[in-house]
Amino acid sequence: MHKVFAKPLFLGKKVLFLTECHSTNDELLQLVKKNDPIEGTIVYTDYQTNGKGQRGNVWFSERGKNLLFSVLVKPTYVEVSKQFLLNVAMGLGVVKCMSRHVSKASLPCLKWPNDIYVADKKVGGILIENLVKSHLIDASVVGIGVNLNQSAFVNPMATSVKMITGSEVNSLQFLEELLIDIEFYLMKLKNRKEKELMETYYSSMYKLGEVANYKDEIGSFEGIIRGVDNHGRLIIEKDGVNCTYSIKEVEFLGD
Ligand code: BTN
Repeated sequence: MHKVFAKPLFLGKKVLFLTECHSTNDELLQLVKKNDPIEGTIVYTDYQTNGKGQRGNVWFSERGKNLLFSVLVKPTYVEVSKQFLLNVAMGLGVVKCMSRHVSKASLPCLKWPNDIYVADKKVGGILIENLVKSHLIDASVVGIGVNLNQSAFVNPMATSVKMITGSEVNSLQFLEELLIDIEFYLMKLKNRKEKELMETYYSSMYKLGEVANYKDEIGSFEGIIRGVDNHGRLIIEKDGVNCTYSIKEVEFLGD
């Protein structure tokens, strides 16, 4: 079935609905390689048998309960060295949309690099797979999972909008709103508003400036997040020294 979202400008003008699939990212990546679909093409599903998360993790989601989709963006104006800005734009889009749904309960924020957190629990995640041409990003498959209506999780650190607010959310309505919010930040990226994007990212960044526990290759330590560097690596102050970390190099252990 194909559907078109009317309100967004360029995202969701072609949508492929699948009752189930391995991973919407894999489905869209295959489409990109075979058919070169238009920017904004979406693969949406009710259930994934092999949902992919960051760091090689599996993304579990109960059938028909949550938002699971991938969207094709063609940010050919973003240099590979600045690809973190695409994470920023996407993450901010999800936070903007989420904040309308949970604001009364608690404000959402972004746990580096782009996990969506509400009240110290994860409510959504983003997995971006870039196709690169020379030094520019040619196409990005942006996979987004948002826990909307699931009532319980094996992982005690996971939550859903329904668990936070007590209300059910219509996933297609949420998706249409989310696409508009993502477009808002993609336009900032296209118009080279990097400083503004980063300021907004910092204003939503989980644990920025707070003492918390982390683990790196040397061991566990108490540190303070100070921001991200130009390559999107996390900067943590450790024993008075700023250390930078890529995604697999550091783990958050809690307060
Ligand atoms: C994370 O680990 O936080 C990223 C999770 C991303 C999950 C979404 S669900 C839709 C899309 N398809 C996938 O296989 N993964 C992403």
